[in-house]
Amino acid sequence: MYNPTSSTLIIIFLFTILHSSSQQSYLTPITKDNSTNLYTLSLYLKTPLQVTNLHLDLGASLTWVDCTRRYKSSSYKHLLYNETLCVDLNTGIYGNCFKKPGPGCSIDSCEYFPENSVTRQTAIGQIMLDSLAVSTTDGRNPNGLRPIKDYVFSCGNTKLLRGLPNGVTGVAALGRFNYSLPFQLSKTSSSSPAIFAVCLPSSTAGTSGNGVAFFNTAGPYYFSPGIDASKLLIYTPLILNPSRGTVPIYWLPSSEYFIGVSAIKVNNKSVKLNETLLKINESGFGGTKISTSTPYTVVHTAVLKAVTEKFVAEAKSMNLTATENPVKPFNVCFPVKAIVNTRVGPAVPVIDLVLDKPGIYWRIFGSNLMVRVKDVWCLGFVDGGLEPRTSIVFGGLMIEDNLLQFDLAQKRLGFSSSLLLKSTNCANFSFTSQN
Ligand SMILES: *[C@@H]1O[C@H](CO)[C@@H](O)[C@H](O)[C@H]1NC(C)=O
Ligand SMILES: *[C@@H]1O[C@H](CO)[C@@H](O)[C@H](O)[C@H]1NC(C)=O
Ligand SMILES: *[C@@H]1O[C@H](CO)[C@@H](O)[C@H](O)[C@H]1NC(C)=O
Ligand SMILES: *[C@@H]1O[C@H](CO)[C@@H](O)[C@H](O)[C@H]1NC(C)=O
Ligand SMILES: *[C@@H]1O[C@H](CO)[C@@H](O)[C@H](O)[C@H]1NC(C)=O
Ligand SMILES: *[C@@H]1O[C@H](CO)[C@@H](O)[C@H](O)[C@H]1NC(C)=O
Ligand SMILES: *[C@@H]1O[C@H](CO)[C@@H](O)[C@H](O)[C@H]1NC(C)=O
Ligand SMILES: *[C@@H]1O[C@H](CO)[C@@H](O)[C@H](O)[C@H]1NC(C)=O
Repeated sequence: MYNPTSSTLIIIFLFTILHSSSQQSYLTPITKDNSTNLYTLSLYLKTPLQVTNLHLDLGASLTWVDCTRRYKSSSYKHLLYNETLCVDLNTGIYGNCFKKPGPGCSIDSCEYFPENSVTRQTAIGQIMLDSLAVSTTDGRNPNGLRPIKDYVFSCGNTKLLRGLPNGVTGVAALGRFNYSLPFQLSKTSSSSPAIFAVCLPSSTAGTSGNGVAFFNTAGPYYFSPGIDASKLLIYTPLILNPSRGTVPIYWLPSSEYFIGVSAIKVNNKSVKLNETLLKINESGFGGTKISTSTPYTVVHTAVLKAVTEKFVAEAKSMNLTATENPVKPFNVCFPVKAIVNTRVGPAVPVIDLVLDKPGIYWRIFGSNLMVRVKDVWCLGFVDGGLEPRTSIVFGGLMIEDNLLQFDLAQKRLGFSSSLLLKSTNCANFSFTSQN
């Protein structure tokens, strides 16, 4: 007998099972390197799986790995130039290698220009596919490892690693590109959103816990003691820079993350800036981006001058006098003994980035502004010259202990501001596995 109620229930039940099994969230640990102040993301690659440490690059489009040294795997594959995937990658470069066939050496292969985003060196490398594995998560702890077949990346070489932290064998690309790490992870389950979040640790490896990156999830993101950072987010649009950025292939748009800073305030006082510099012009110059390939904030000379003058004046009203000789490459420093330490770092003027609407601003405190160099604290802004491609490049220091969510589908950035205000930090995620 046909019973509409029970068949409806069965359909709902099946839908629930399919739905819950098709969404899968992942995480990877992040560490900070004590000599370069850059960040390393760890995942598993090859067969058998091996821990692979990669420089975390928010702006890069395709992950690359040095496959010229110690690349041993039974599961790697090359990509022929005429396969659909090569066409889709749109690299437009094909080549041959007539040495002993192996990782990074085959004929008629699809090729790419891997780039070291710190030194801006590039090379030519073959596209490869190999097994990847990352931890699954419910936002509270890592659960089991999940293997992912045929992860697409480019080969790099040992020379290209120069300038990256010791122990790193390539670059993890988290940019806005169809084959970046977050996009490839989102394709591993049918209903996962292309959303990822990063929380960079402020202390270096070994001195406290790891930071964390979450993939395919809009939250929760739990940090002890029980703070869900996804509840703290304020959103602003991500802006596409139509011209190329770090991608050394000129026909692809930039894969970097730009945001619309409309004004900067110091202790709530507006800094007078040349508005032209804040906008991206038709050739891709100007604007503001977030980069993990520079430890500090790098700005146009005119922006630096305006911000530091206001910062020095506001510090003076707090009875802080800048030292006469700032420590290079910085421009403003204060004696450590003159500055009180607070929950959110050294007590200095706060900087607000006013974003798409007057009421939407990102408040930045001392812990994300100041760099300790021996007996002084210096403002972590450095001079990018008079003709930088991007007027304001916010580096790693500014986003440490903040949770940033990149929502690639809705093209928006969620930011939490300093987690220190909530008495937690990026190293407070619990990596103790639950199974
Ligand atoms: C940096 O870290 C490495 C390994 O994590 C350690 O051996 C080294 O002593 C550290 N250096 C400094 C200056 O702290
Ligand atoms: C791709 O090229 C190889 C030789 O270079 C050829 O054997 C193969 O049939 C081609 N495949 C397609 C799909 O065109
Ligand atoms: C990325 O993928 C989407 C959907 O498959 C496609 O519409 C878009 O053109 C691709 N973008 C690039 C730059 O290839
Ligand atoms: C900041 O300045 C605005 C006007 O520019 C004012 O309305 C607001 O009250 C000020 N906020 C603080 C905390 O001083
Ligand atoms: C603002 O910056 C643009 C681009 O660098 C420059 O052409 C223009 O002269 C500047 N305007 C002022 C008032 O300084
Ligand atoms: C964009 O700005 C740069 C640097 O100021 C300048 O060289 C270039 O001509 C500008 N392009 C356009 C289309 O205005
Ligand atoms: C700065 O110092 C002066 C004189 O010592 C004092 O009157 C004033 O209250 C101080 N201001 C602040 C913000 O500490
Ligand atoms: C988390 O971080 C805060 C502030 O950074 C720290 O005071 C606290 O002890 C940490 N909590 C736990 C449970 O580790």
